[in-house]
Amino acid sequence: MNKKIAVALTAVCASLSALPAHAASHPQTFAAAVKAGEHIFMTGTFGSRERTNNGKPMTCDTCHIDGGRTMGRLPNGKRFPSLMNAVAIFPRYNPRMHKVITIETQIRACVHNGLMGRAPAYGSQTMTDLVSYLASIARGQRVEPNGMPH
Ligand code: HEC
Repeated sequence: MNKKIAVALTAVCASLSALPAHAASHPQTFAAAVKAGEHIFMTGTFGSRERTNNGKPMTCDTCHIDGGRTMGRLPNGKRFPSLMNAVAIFPRYNPRMHKVITIETQIRACVHNGLMGRAPAYGSQTMTDLVSYLASIARGQRVEPNGMPH
């Protein structure tokens, strides 16, 4: 191999191998992601100025009551399934979007349409934390393909 190319390749490989090492200097456990995600779920407003009827800032928990563990309720009173096994039933077909969506896309839609806030980016730490939290409440639950009935 040409010596210059070999040197360049070595440099590229060295910088690539530096990536995981750098990430490892800020280790994050699953438990920490779950805790951060729960906090965001309960308190995050995503820059929204929307208010609930009782004057409190709106968060995920406003509609997905009790941290998503019991049936959801819209401010207008309409009920819908809990998030107890949401991570197990995505990706799935969304009739309004006419396509199969991941849970990240569903979360972004909820922030955008439900909270009228700025949706967290795909792959962002906020998104990872929220999905980790939802995974934590789903573990050990029975899978109901249409969402938890309670
Ligand atoms: C204004 C009420 C509202 C808010 C606020 C809201 N959601 Fe939702 N969410 C819904 C409704 C209603 C559904 C049912 C699916 C649909 O009709 O879009 C839903 C569905 C979901 C689902 C899929 C559940 C399933 O069984 O299909 C997930 C996951 C979810 N929301 C997460 C979140 C997260 C995380 C937040 C906060 C960032 C949030 N939602 C904020 C109303 C809301």
